[in-house]
Amino acid sequence: MSIFDDMAQTWDDKPDRAERARVVSDRLRETLDFDGVQAGLEYGCGTGQLSFALADVLPHCLLVDTSLEMLKMAERGIAERKLQWDTERRNFATESLDHPENIADVVFSLQVLHHVDDLETTVRNMGRALKPGGQIALMDLPKGSSGFHHGTGHDPADNPHLDGLDRGELEQLLEGAGFSDITWHEDIELHRDTENGSEPYTLFLVTARV
Ligand SMILES: C[S@@+](CC[C@H](N)C(=O)[O-])C[C@H]1O[C@@H](n2cnc3c(N)ncnc32)[C@H](O)[C@@H]1O
Repeated sequence: MSIFDDMAQTWDDKPDRAERARVVSDRLRETLDFDGVQAGLEYGCGTGQLSFALADVLPHCLLVDTSLEMLKMAERGIAERKLQWDTERRNFATESLDHPENIADVVFSLQVLHHVDDLETTVRNMGRALKPGGQIALMDLPKGSSGFHHGTGHDPADNPHLDGLDRGELEQLLEGAGFSDITWHEDIELHRDTENGSEPYTLFLVTARV
């Protein structure tokens, strides 16, 4: 049982998360080339908010997460929107012969990698899921974001990157996984609702191609 299973039912209740999906989807529309895109893969989709905000440019999308309860919410969202999409419980941080290969034109992931233990394997499996020439977009907390999880129940032992990701390390992992055209874009500035009121936070956005 993942800590995210407990959060799934009420995940969409917070307006700041809906706003994040809107802001981030707008940035992805500006940054990625969706011309000719047939299939997307969102890694760590949660309830699917970001992918749903891109539904008009994603004829198909595979929503992947490790939390069954998050995936149930995502399935509900797919059914409500009458989309021909799929969900899958899968962990790219593990080696597996049945991870998808060559299936997606675009892979994207929002605030997931800082919860992943084996980043190298994860980034490599993301690359394998992409068709040749496919695009990746990663949005996450930069290193130094330790305050973001203050007071949450996340166990740092299971989340070694909880204080954010080092850009240099991530770039090396992308290169090692065979990505090129690695581009760091303007940071995404967001707000979230906390018990102390609205607090600003920053996400990086990096894109690349296989
Ligand atoms: C902070 S939430 C973000 C969810 C969604 N991307 C959003 O922005 O609303 C992190 C998500 O990553 C998922 N997750 C955590 N570790 C994962 C892993 N190793 N592989 C896939 N998903 C994972 C969690 O279940 C959760 O849904």
